Amino acid sequence: MALKSCLDIDEAMYMAYLEAWGDEKMVPYAVSLRADNFQLQREKWLYEASDAVLKDGFVPAELYFLVEEDKIIGAIHLRLSLNDFLLKHGGHIGYGVRPDERKKGYADLMMHLINPILEKHHLDKVLLTCDEDNIGSNKTIQKHGGILENQSFFEGKLTNRYWIAYNK
Ligand SMILES: CC(C)(COP(=O)(O)OP(=O)(O)OC[C@H]1O[C@@H](n2cnc3c(N)ncnc32)[C@H](O)[C@@H]1OP(=O)(O)O)[C@@H](O)C(=O)NCCC(=O)NCCS
Repeated sequence: MALKSCLDIDEAMYMAYLEAWGDEKMVPYAVSLRADNFQLQREKWLYEASDAVLKDGFVPAELYFLVEEDKIIGAIHLRLSLNDFLLKHGGHIGYGVRPDERKKGYADLMMHLINPILEKHHLDKVLLTCDEDNIGSNKTIQKHGGILENQSFFEGKLTNRYWIAYNK
């Protein structure tokens, strides 16, 4: 099992992953911005990873999928810096695991596998946020050394803001 760049995923795998989520809201959102057209989705991923997004008020971000053979299990989205919005609500990292593969340790595994990528980008302190009542995500973040800084309100819900510091 490994993390693969979104650009190394083929359409069949991608479509099967979307289907596995059914009607549930996709997390991270970047997985399915142009889910109707795989070619346009790939172009969107390329664009989102480039500095060109800065002019839209976004920060460059990379998307990785957790893949076992030809099956996508989950996704992890890495924002390479923070803007005002991400500092309050989104953080550096967002992840999601397909509903039929949850509670098997895959969120935990993705947080392990992202480490060398964080190192490559010299990110030694990252912000993660999650709803106060999202037990799986709170547990995952805490397990990886997340220190709760405070809470903020987002979309009518309390969001926990955690920092994870990596020792060099
Ligand atoms: C949150 C989410 C990513 C967790 O993924 P996962 O692969 O099921 O998590 P893991 O199996 O690695 O579990 C991590 C810990 O949380 C616990 N856990 C996971 N889901 C749980 C749940 N619904 N209720 C209670 N505990 C839960 C696990 O038992 C494990 O605890 P342990 O370390 O004590 O054994 C997944 O539920 C998901 O994709 N949810 C929808 C999207 C989302 O909320 N993303 C996070 C946004 S911040």
